[in-house]
Amino acid sequence: MPVRSLPRTTAVDGRHPLIVTTDPLLLDDLLRLAAAGGAEVSVAVDATAAAPGWATAPFVLLGADAAPQCVLADLSARTCVILVARGSDTEPPWRYAEALRAEQVAVLPTAEAWLVDRFADHASGNPARGRVVAVLGGRGGAGASVLATALAVTARRRGLDTLLVDADPFGGGVDLVLGWERMRGLRWPDLVDARGRVNPPALISALPGDGSLAALSFDRSELNGVPAEAMAAALDAGRRGRDLVVVDLPRRFDDPSLMALTAADRAYLVVPAELRACAAAGRVAAVAAAHCPALSVVVRGAAPRGIDVEEIAQALDLPLAGILSPEPGLVRALDRGAPPAGTGRGPLAELCRLLLADISPRSHRAMAR
Ligand SMILES: Nc1ncnc2c1ncn2[C@@H]1O[C@H](COP(=O)(O)OP(=O)(O)OP(=O)(O)O)[C@@H](O)[C@H]1O
Ligand SMILES: [Mg+2]
Repeated sequence: MPVRSLPRTTAVDGRHPLIVTTDPLLLDDLLRLAAAGGAEVSVAVDATAAAPGWATAPFVLLGADAAPQCVLADLSARTCVILVARGSDTEPPWRYAEALRAEQVAVLPTAEAWLVDRFADHASGNPARGRVVAVLGGRGGAGASVLATALAVTARRRGLDTLLVDADPFGGGVDLVLGWERMRGLRWPDLVDARGRVNPPALISALPGDGSLAALSFDRSELNGVPAEAMAAALDAGRRGRDLVVVDLPRRFDDPSLMALTAADRAYLVVPAELRACAAAGRVAAVAAAHCPALSVVVRGAAPRGIDVEEIAQALDLPLAGILSPEPGLVRALDRGAPPAGTGRGPLAELCRLLLADISPRSHRAMAR
């Protein structure tokens, strides 16, 4: 289909979704998808032409062909950059995605339906509002999954619609941390083959959940990971349909976990107050900070004669978000299937309230009233 026969493109004005590409086939595809979603778009052929609208466009669709020069042009960092590649291109441009802090890499034609949704949401004035918080451990067994789950449980107590996403295929499943392993609903292995249109409310309502808290968990099967597209769809569903998305990250990053980290409004690195844990956390922090500028440290269990908490944060060159004192009875509670911070009392619940106050997610329902 010739580009010029497609309607509704405007000059680059920063008010419409901005497409940046010189690839005529990609442009044809994107204009077709924008038309299907009923959205008017601006088109720029290079970084210079894109500059007037770059900072304020509702979202940017950056063709893989134009990504290298946009990196070189040093355009200001912004959210909602989606890197678009055609599946026939050799490899998705992950390294440019990192440099541009792209929220997602959309590979066509797989991501077509998702992009139509994205355009349609824009056209209907219904942008994503949910905030994303990621939690990762500085060493094995640091307490990241417990903190991620406790954050989700505390958010639910605050009346926030929350999605807990398990991004660690080798973590045993966050459904187990919630005590939900017998609860009906879809897990990652049920979803990884899903292709095409993802309907956020339908996705979330298919998960194990209790109404205001839903969990997308690995199970005890042999699945070694999920495609980045599946993580993108889950994050997108969460940001559109929920107030808060909490992601439990592995320490060994893969594409989907890097995508979640890049999408995070806040990320917390849990570091036990021990020398070896700090050394291990240094490696994790270096990688994670490159993907998420809003990374800070939660120090767990400062021993009376242990290392100074402030010193740990300084050594990692990260801000200190909070201190996690040992939670009495946690291990027994987990074994009983009682979720962490479930009673709303204790140091864990207290820290979670502090961290949530910092990100201040707002309830969709409250905003709708
Ligand atoms: N706040 C806490 N107070 C006391 N014990 C805790 C706390 N958080 C975690 N633990 C203990 O540490 C164990 C490991 O916690 P968790 O599974 O959250 O760590 P992780 O960082 O996710 O580990 P992994 O490397 O396996 O992902 C828990 O099973 C529990 O025994
Ligand atoms: Mg874990």
